Amino acid sequence: MNRQLLYGVLILAFLFGTYSTVRHSRFGSCVAYAIGGFRTVASDRADRFLGKVGEDTARCRGGEAAVRWSQTPWLEWPRYWAAGAEESRADGLTAKLGFLNPNRRGINGALLDLEYQRIELLKFNLFDNSGTYENYARSQETAAGDLQKTWPQLRLPKDHPYFAAVGGEGAQKCAGELIRFRTLTGICNDIFNPLMGSVDQPFGRNVEFEATFPELSEDEIVRNRHGGRLGPLQPDPQVISRKLFTRAQPSLAKCNDGRGAANNSPEASCAYRMAAYVNVLAAFWIQFMTHDWFSHLEEGHNEPTLMPMGCSAQSDHAKSLGCRPEDRIDKSFVAEEAPAPSFTIGARRRLTRAPKTMLNKVTAWWDGSQIYGYDETSHQRVKRDPRDPAKLLLEANLSGAQAQPGYLPVLQKSDPQNPQWAGQEAVAFPDNWNIGLSFFHNVFAREHNLFVEEFRRKAAARPAADSGLRDPAAPERAIRYQDISADELFEIARLVVSAEIAKIHTIEWTTQMLYNEPLYLAMNANWSGLLQKHPLVDAALEKVIEQLARSEGKKSTAWYSAFAAGPGIFGLGSDKPDINGGVNHFGSPFNFPEEFINAYRLHPMVPDLIEFRDLKNDSNVIRAKIAVVNTLRGKATEAMRRYGIADWALSLGRQRVGALTLHNHPLFLQNLDMPRLKSATGKIDVLALDILRDRERGIPRYNEFRRQYGLKQLTGFDDFIDPSLSPNSAARAAQLRDATLLREIYGQHRCDDSKIITTAQKNDDGSAITDCLGRPNGSVVDNIEDLDAMVGWLAESTRPHGFAISETQLQVFILNASRRLFSDRFLTSSFRPAFYTDFGVQWVNHNGPGGKIMEKVKSNGHAIEVSPLKRVLLRTIPELSAELDPVVNVFDPWARDRGEYYSLEWKPRRGAESDMSFK
Ligand code: HEM
Repeated sequence: MNRQLLYGVLILAFLFGTYSTVRHSRFGSCVAYAIGGFRTVASDRADRFLGKVGEDTARCRGGEAAVRWSQTPWLEWPRYWAAGAEESRADGLTAKLGFLNPNRRGINGALLDLEYQRIELLKFNLFDNSGTYENYARSQETAAGDLQKTWPQLRLPKDHPYFAAVGGEGAQKCAGELIRFRTLTGICNDIFNPLMGSVDQPFGRNVEFEATFPELSEDEIVRNRHGGRLGPLQPDPQVISRKLFTRAQPSLAKCNDGRGAANNSPEASCAYRMAAYVNVLAAFWIQFMTHDWFSHLEEGHNEPTLMPMGCSAQSDHAKSLGCRPEDRIDKSFVAEEAPAPSFTIGARRRLTRAPKTMLNKVTAWWDGSQIYGYDETSHQRVKRDPRDPAKLLLEANLSGAQAQPGYLPVLQKSDPQNPQWAGQEAVAFPDNWNIGLSFFHNVFAREHNLFVEEFRRKAAARPAADSGLRDPAAPERAIRYQDISADELFEIARLVVSAEIAKIHTIEWTTQMLYNEPLYLAMNANWSGLLQKHPLVDAALEKVIEQLARSEGKKSTAWYSAFAAGPGIFGLGSDKPDINGGVNHFGSPFNFPEEFINAYRLHPMVPDLIEFRDLKNDSNVIRAKIAVVNTLRGKATEAMRRYGIADWALSLGRQRVGALTLHNHPLFLQNLDMPRLKSATGKIDVLALDILRDRERGIPRYNEFRRQYGLKQLTGFDDFIDPSLSPNSAARAAQLRDATLLREIYGQHRCDDSKIITTAQKNDDGSAITDCLGRPNGSVVDNIEDLDAMVGWLAESTRPHGFAISETQLQVFILNASRRLFSDRFLTSSFRPAFYTDFGVQWVNHNGPGGKIMEKVKSNGHAIEVSPLKRVLLRTIPELSAELDPVVNVFDPWARDRGEYYSLEWKPRRGAESDMSFK
């Protein structure tokens, strides 16, 4: 709308004496918001967008509920129209009127907020640890648009076997065989930066280096913030685990510390808080993913020195809580810990890297390295079928006697292995093996082989046809189907399987874990583009792009070009002749940051007992309760083969996942046997270890973590209490108890208002944030600054609708989920037939052979394709076909009725009314 016209409307309203009413009505707010226009992208991190939009915008996008929410520390967009379930949608006349539709404003507004956050995260939260940071920081001070794209630190070193092949001492550029497929160690994904994302590269950071390792108290701001209260065992990690993480049990005997009954009786019971709209497959899926992306351990161990894990005698009657002072764990590997060099820009001194750095012991790419390997050792565990080396070895195939595709072989004595792994399946990444990992590894090994088989069928039918594949050494020469070797086909299958996995994760897992309309749209846009698919939001996003171009000065900036890309990230730049042309590192080399590992500590998702079902004998009956602890390591392999993959699929698919909250960690993980450590107890508390590892790796504590990521800080533990709950509700009483518990563990102090505690943000009035967090000098304040990041995000009771994770974790994902797509050549410019073949590209785009297949029903108002994981399961475990028929998203419990618009209800679908889990 034209600005003069808008002013005219307001003046007229004023003249008619209705100014005040109109101004604070939804209409008036929208007018005022429209006049205000769109915000610009911040040029200083302290001025960034914090998810708060101002009263007019909030009212326009979500009515009074959104305005009230602006007083809380939490994001506003989840209160916009249509961002929740059915009741969040406005109805009545306006909802039917195109541009006046509040639901449209709500969704567009949410997407805009998410987009601003993503842009500013890319701009302010990249801190590379491999020595490139100083140049990056200096380039940010100059005119935008000339972000660095190659780095000397990412050249192959002299002693690397491929040093000469990429150009030796001269300019390095990967070529030929090194760029055709995903390499074992991850080198040459970026042609000009051979080392990027490869094994043994340092993890990056998403927070300023000065904010890392607060325990070291190296600078004044950090000392002010924590007042010398922190230490590796301070507060005690095992006490935190026992007091804040333990799942309370109505019957201790029935749960038996997570071990259930000896005979797997269904009478056993381990209570846990569940997320009704996500199943247990989602828990093991994400563990399967993390093993592809990152690991701090080498072959399942750290450095040889053991260290204590807390539960010290002094700590608050610790032993009475059931913790164990004699537990020990091996210390984390540290790559660099010499004092970090520093440099200055203006008056400010900055570190060139974090005080300590750690290496990613797997490739950082989404390359299926947990299946296919990431170094010579892991590669030896990957078995290929001697009868067809394009395939992975699956045992039933060896005898040829069974029609079913078979199972992965077991580790042989000659395979490199940690003794703990004896008897489990041979895969590249074998650590923390369990029934869920066995499930997904077997499924994708089968998928690999099915792709090979279909490809061979196609090749046999048209042997002389052009496959689309090209050899970069002779790119003009067409490669016919019949010319493709078994080794090439193996690598093509790896590309296809890895891309399918990335797609499943982006549009199926994430959209169920973050179950609402804005995230559904955002994730689909991430994958396949928004503008052509969802015209509803196209205008809004164009505005962001316009703003970006304006505030950065040039249309050629890295940010601009990435966001202006209508077709989504996947395949970006694949129309360009330059095969590296689609990648975008935003000026800083890609690797995961340590904070990402923190955000993926999702152990509460795992139940203690699996409700076991039999596909052939009434899926609605829970026949046994099998303890997860009895399906670990070699026992997983045994259980997989004994009961069969179809029954495990059914059981994991129907059971609800553990909610990511306090008091909800698996009991068995508090008492996990770790014989390899040879410590007095032979056990560890994995949850205490989660806390301890984060401290070893210098994760900032919760409040600074939020400030660094562009979220509002909390001012005390009571801020965790959901203000929208009624004062007498049981939920509120429980949250109040948790706030008291946090206070008991983390304590309080008398604040000193002269102490500045952060430079990441300022108060709303522009003043510095101090130890008093807005309270009068000398007040007693909660030690909210000391709260461990993971404890904080688990305590977030106020979450966007359908969010299994917290808004703090979301912030970490927004940034890194985008980056791992943007930076990967095989998911951007090299996603094309020259690398994948025509058949491979079709397979990824259409979720398998045979073209696009649509679901019979709509989902939340969208016509959708049969989901990629459903297609994979239908192919690899055909016995599931009837069970999967009504399933729309494989990570939604299979017997649940999805209801209307993003319902979270636990209600049986038709045919599953007798399912015992609904009783
Ligand atoms: C039966 C299931 C599981 C077992 C037995 C298990 C066990 C463990 C253990 C022992 C560690 C500590 C390694 C160390 O630092 O020394 C660990 C770390 C971790 N676990 Fe789990 N876990 C399980 C499931 C999961 C799931 C479902 C997730 C979900 C994402 C997950 C995510 C992680 C992450 C992110 C780490 C840190 C890895 C790193 O430092 O590189 N785990 N787990």
